[in-house]
Amino acid sequence: MTIPPRIFSSNEALIQASAVCLRDCAIESINDHGSFHLALAGGSSPRSLYQLLATDEFTESIDWGKVHIYFGDERCVGPDHADSNYLMAKENLLDHVPLPATQVYRMEGERDPTEAASAYASLLKQHLPHADNGAPEFDLILLGMGPDGHTASLFPDTDILNKTDTPVAAVYVDKLKCWRISLTLPIINQARYVMLMVAGTQKADIIRHLWHHIEGASMLPVQRVKPTGELLWMLDSEAARYLSQKPEK
Ligand code: 6PG
Repeated sequence: MTIPPRIFSSNEALIQASAVCLRDCAIESINDHGSFHLALAGGSSPRSLYQLLATDEFTESIDWGKVHIYFGDERCVGPDHADSNYLMAKENLLDHVPLPATQVYRMEGERDPTEAASAYASLLKQHLPHADNGAPEFDLILLGMGPDGHTASLFPDTDILNKTDTPVAAVYVDKLKCWRISLTLPIINQARYVMLMVAGTQKADIIRHLWHHIEGASMLPVQRVKPTGELLWMLDSEAARYLSQKPEK
């Protein structure tokens, strides 16, 4: 179910509201089944969100001992490489919250991509709760979006978009000339909540395209994110500059 986007007048307001949403989901999940299974987004936008979650306001109001951290995608580099999504999360969040290291599940970007993807798929099946249909189910998947409409490492015109038999796959991204490991659409769309957090003027054109989408035009990867749970679009006013909807006060 897609709820109308929430638009915020500044990046700070966007980050604050996103952290509150994430905390609410954590509390609801822990009350419901005793744990919170969260997949983190990569890239640069989430950095300030992770930094906020590492402050007292959120370290003290989320029961981190019951939180399990996963990754939506990873670059095929080692965990200490500057491009590593794991390293970004570690430096800005994981090293600052009382979360047992055994509850952080890293995609092993240093391994052969196909082997690492297969290993992570097995890990998800082992650690994630399972929905009534038997599929592994995240409580919340945090996603970003690129100016081309990619999300996680689901890039336009890549074969990973058609992977329906595995929750994780490796993909060679020709435009970036690199391999990635990523969650696939089936497991993303199985999540109880998906939060798409998009900020900055460089995303305004793609947001305009998405909201004025001409039916029948080729679907961008992010448009195929249609979770059985709730899809929350969280935008700042720069990314939403071409939308008629006004920012929240
Ligand atoms: C990655 C991310 C990717 C990211 C978008 C937006 O590994 O890069 O998973 O999907 O969310 O590219 O990135 P920015 O937040 O840096 O704009």
